Amino acid sequence: MRPTYLEVNLPQLKQNLEAIRAKVAPAKVMAVLKANAYGHGVDGVAPYIAPYTDYIGVAIVEEGIHLREMGIEKPILVMGGTLSEQIPAFIQHDLTLAASSMQLLEAAEQAARAAQVKLKVHLKIDTGMERLGVHEYEAEPFISRSLSCSHLNIEGIFTHFANSDSADLTHARLQLERFQAVLHIYEELGAPHPPLRHTANSGAILQLPESYFDMVRPGVMFYGVYPGRGVRKTVEVKPALTWHSRVVYSKITKPGRPVSYGSLWQSEVPARIVTIPCGYADGYFRRMTDHAQVIVNGKKYPQVGRVCMDQFMVNLGGDEAGVGDEVILLGAGITAEDFADWTGTNEYEVMTNIGARVPRVFIG
Ligand SMILES: Cc1ncc(COP(=O)(O)O)c(C=O)c1O
Repeated sequence: MRPTYLEVNLPQLKQNLEAIRAKVAPAKVMAVLKANAYGHGVDGVAPYIAPYTDYIGVAIVEEGIHLREMGIEKPILVMGGTLSEQIPAFIQHDLTLAASSMQLLEAAEQAARAAQVKLKVHLKIDTGMERLGVHEYEAEPFISRSLSCSHLNIEGIFTHFANSDSADLTHARLQLERFQAVLHIYEELGAPHPPLRHTANSGAILQLPESYFDMVRPGVMFYGVYPGRGVRKTVEVKPALTWHSRVVYSKITKPGRPVSYGSLWQSEVPARIVTIPCGYADGYFRRMTDHAQVIVNGKKYPQVGRVCMDQFMVNLGGDEAGVGDEVILLGAGITAEDFADWTGTNEYEVMTNIGARVPRVFIG
């Protein structure tokens, strides 16, 4: 019954996914549901969206196991780094492994052989992110070996862009060229390439149609937020989050009585100061202090004084508001971009930091 809660508009997420699908068809779509569905609450998002997505992407094996335990049956790719001792969990839960090294490929083959199963694998190629994957210039032996792994179903091959959301696509195009060269290795070997070739994150979906191949991997834009300020908005998507709260305390503060820890801010005239039950432990960053704006009863006001762990204050000036009145922290004209600007971070970090303590209320 917490008055501070996150409203998640599930039909809007579906609409975003459909807009992406219309743009990339006939390519398939992998909805990226890592990091608690970018903060939206995977327990509500996953069951709702599963029928509409071809594949699901997560970062770590635990996220994949969680989805399986919820009863999600769609294929799930664990895109992040994996240790060989985690491979049995992939087998047990029918998760797809991103094989990012020869050693991991060998370990996967061995584990699958021992379990007498066929494990689904996507080969991860590093074309210029320098995070995970076999470099394109060392891909030939990796691909050759993958073709002889009898207990692996090499279903996909992929890479990840470092700068596909920027105005200058030089590096993204270079990465794409390197990926194309890797795919040529299959021709040289006289073998078919894996059926799922994929590279495109949100930036590439918006700006690089030649990167779609067989599947795309939208994260941030599935949630209705664009991956960068200068990015070309070639697909219309809308945010699905509204972060609500209510006034828990309302009073007049006199001049000479500074507000909150550190006594950093005070009003020069008597002012109506209201207290909102949400703080940095909820992902309302302390760095928001004296930068954020909040909607109280439909009107925007400045946050004042240091944001505390569980509460912060808002200056209504000469306006009135009482205990229980409606407050909107995010949504209704306040965007994740605003939060990012107020805190010097990006929209991804804003959304994924909305705390576990904030209940998610799913609409639809
Ligand atoms: C491998 C991979 N693919 C796709 C995505 C989705 O990226 P975005 O949220 O920019 O669309 C991510 C997210 O970081 C990722 O790590």
